[in-house]
Amino acid sequence: MSTTTYPHGNTAWFTRDRLGMFIHWGLYSCAARHEWVMNREELTVEQYRKYFEHFNPDLFDPVAWARHAKNAGMKYFVITTKHHEGFCLWDTRYTDYKVTNTPCGKELIGPLVEAFRNEGLKVGFYYSLIDWRYPDFPVDARHPQRNDSEFRTKTQGRDVSRYAAYMRNQVEELLTRFGPVDIIWFDFSYPGHDGKGKDDWESEKLLSLVRKLQPDILINNRLDLNGAGDFVTPEQYQPHGKVLGNDGKPLVWEACQTFSGSWGYHRDEQTWKSIGQILRMLIDGVAKGGNLLLNVGPTARGEFDFRAIEKLEQMGQWMRVNGVSIYECGPAPDELTCPPDCRYTFNATKNRLYLHLFAWPFRFLHLQNLIGKIEYAQFLHDASEILFEEHTGTDVHDIKRPKNCVTLKLPAVKPPIEIPVIELFLK
Ligand code: GLC
Repeated sequence: MSTTTYPHGNTAWFTRDRLGMFIHWGLYSCAARHEWVMNREELTVEQYRKYFEHFNPDLFDPVAWARHAKNAGMKYFVITTKHHEGFCLWDTRYTDYKVTNTPCGKELIGPLVEAFRNEGLKVGFYYSLIDWRYPDFPVDARHPQRNDSEFRTKTQGRDVSRYAAYMRNQVEELLTRFGPVDIIWFDFSYPGHDGKGKDDWESEKLLSLVRKLQPDILINNRLDLNGAGDFVTPEQYQPHGKVLGNDGKPLVWEACQTFSGSWGYHRDEQTWKSIGQILRMLIDGVAKGGNLLLNVGPTARGEFDFRAIEKLEQMGQWMRVNGVSIYECGPAPDELTCPPDCRYTFNATKNRLYLHLFAWPFRFLHLQNLIGKIEYAQFLHDASEILFEEHTGTDVHDIKRPKNCVTLKLPAVKPPIEIPVIELFLK
């Protein structure tokens, strides 16, 4: 089987930065019951129109959004410039179905890019390959009108190549109007019967356009082109280990996760994750060599959900003191087996190992394969020393500790930190 080799962007900054903010914002924030509402309720373009006519985010403050992200420790953001509903948040020349024609009356991507850049965050654009409103987008199994046979018959002549050209035009706008863009996040392909994939999107052409306009940009892996993406995108789950390519080498990856069960603002959704769960996802990801893109769905008034603000603030408190175990870190060397209920991350440049305690042990924690290797140990949050002993295992009657390990001596009571981190300076 022949495989095409595609040019790639440089992911060095991406794997250093580790944490980004996803933002899902569009007309669905008016419905406030999931960004797939048009599909789930099988709404027609006409029925959906009411959201277009009422989209008026009068409290929109991009600077406030950028500060929330920055304070939470996020280093980049990815905004839905267009989601599956087809509505565009910038003043595109190629459709009237855009924010400037709603009561909002102004373009939103420019101000967002500026605000986030001013806070030092990198810029990413999500662009939906799917478009349930575009007149040339053929109805398929995931289209809101999938069960409307009359509509299907009526629209049989839809020409997907015109839609593919529309996408290229729009992507060209996005990648020429807003300065350097660090990430483009296409979403998504579902090839096969009644689906769409690379031949429909004309993915090869789209990809070379992106590379031509922004050679350094990072592209995700959802164009249905094997080997084309710069990073892979597990969605709503954590990989069970490092993510490996066909050649057995680790791939760059980014898990995208929601605070609750919806990407778009969902008023009544109650399954909000605890801050502990969120932090564990972040740490678990870095321990396996991945990033976290954590999503916020702003309201139709233009503000972050108050529940998201609360979690972002808690995240910021943890990141302020523990961020050094996340940024510039990755998996620990393979020979270091992590103790139960813990995760290691490792900063190879500084030669420091970070031990994250998901559960608080009683007094002693035993670390394998580290004898003679630790120079100093401390809690990260307050830089207080952790005493340790090394056991070479000569005393066979000592059942207190396993052989050949370093034993950390911990306080009986867990420090007041959601997930305490121990910093191990290696020799
Ligand atoms: C999905 C969904 C979508 C969301 C995205 C984020 O594929 O279609 O609503 O934007 O995942 O990864």
